[in-house]
Amino acid sequence: MSITEQYDTYPYPARDPKDERKRLVRGSPSHPVEMDHFLFGGKRNWRAPIRILVAGGGTGDALVQLAQTLTSAKRPYEITYLDLSTTAREIAEARIAERRLSNVTFHTASLLDAPDFGTFDYIDCCGVLHHLPEPDEGFRALSAALSPEGGMGLMVYAPYGRAGVYQLQSAFGTLSQGMSAKDRLKLGKAVLKAVPDAHSFKRNQVLVDHKKSDAGFYDLLLHSQDRPYTVGELAEALRLADLKPAGFLPTAQYDLDRLLPEGVERPDGMDIIAAMDVAEKLRGTIKTHVVYAVPAARDVLHANPKDPWAVPHFKSLAGPQLAGLVAKKGKIVLDFQTETAVLKLPKEAAQIVSLVDGRTPLGALRERTGLDEMLFASLWGRVHDALVPWNELNYSKLLV
Ligand SMILES: C[S@@+](CC[C@H](N)C(=O)[O-])C[C@H]1O[C@@H](n2cnc3c(N)ncnc32)[C@H](O)[C@@H]1O
Repeated sequence: MSITEQYDTYPYPARDPKDERKRLVRGSPSHPVEMDHFLFGGKRNWRAPIRILVAGGGTGDALVQLAQTLTSAKRPYEITYLDLSTTAREIAEARIAERRLSNVTFHTASLLDAPDFGTFDYIDCCGVLHHLPEPDEGFRALSAALSPEGGMGLMVYAPYGRAGVYQLQSAFGTLSQGMSAKDRLKLGKAVLKAVPDAHSFKRNQVLVDHKKSDAGFYDLLLHSQDRPYTVGELAEALRLADLKPAGFLPTAQYDLDRLLPEGVERPDGMDIIAAMDVAEKLRGTIKTHVVYAVPAARDVLHANPKDPWAVPHFKSLAGPQLAGLVAKKGKIVLDFQTETAVLKLPKEAAQIVSLVDGRTPLGALRERTGLDEMLFASLWGRVHDALVPWNELNYSKLLV
């Protein structure tokens, strides 16, 4: 079965356009605030129009997030959506129509032809490149369509967190040769029930897609074209396409030092990607890599927590909510499927944290708190150091 037939039968992820009335799906990559933080040092001028390509846009999660967030912020944009599946495109179009969003052009086309659609300031490609017959061609096509000062947000599968998937894909593939998509799904579900509980897939706690929808089951376990990337392999694929990483999310997950016990040092001279590669192996649960990337010739810009014009945004909690936790407990606890991260924040920073609203620059926050420069810089530095590695704090001028 071809990839197009698969996504025409089971457009992924399963979405009902009517749900747009009650919620906005938020995800990484491709939230404008996060893009700004990782690709533009938190300093992009959002009054200038942004040309965006959503490559392999599927049923439209990233597309809708981008178009809605930019429309709500009253920022000019043009989005080009490409996908091979007409069924997926129809759902994405219906979601955009349901929200009455504009400035989106839809094309049923391959991302391999991306440069034919122009040059883009930002390219989203989430969950697609690992499904191409020749993924390197996909990386190169996207790179060729990216403006020299632009950046992209990618997601590709990672091997260790997908433990068990590839044996089952191979076994189900052999058992279901020549069958229709619907029959393959029936067979896959029946056989999975009989697979022993000790199988690495059944013991894998991080995979849930197959329990959520038929499209999820098919995408995870019945895919006929799917290759995962270690962090080192992904960095190499970027390099071959004249790109380089600007940030893997969340950075803390790839931090080798957080995984090494006292007394164990990383080898001298180990480069950053090699260290991340070891961290991925030690952690063992990373199932996807989300990476922001830029042309190899362009500088990676970092947001500066000492810049009075930098505008901070919190991700999961609003400033006052986060401040309540900080004042009471001096920490926040992030719950991932496989681990809990405890982020310690100074209680004295609660007043600053309460004022963070995504619109106020650090300099104005300092004035409002009445703190002297040294104390403010030291407290904010600790907030920054605790939250940025977990992607709970970004900087962006989107709303200014
Ligand atoms: C797993 S879905 C991901 C959809 C979407 N990006 C998301 O994250 O929700 C993969 C999508 O890539 C599309 N696709 C696969 N190969 C493609 C290609 N060469 N060009 C464009 N789209 C492609 C499929 O049709 C499918 O809709």
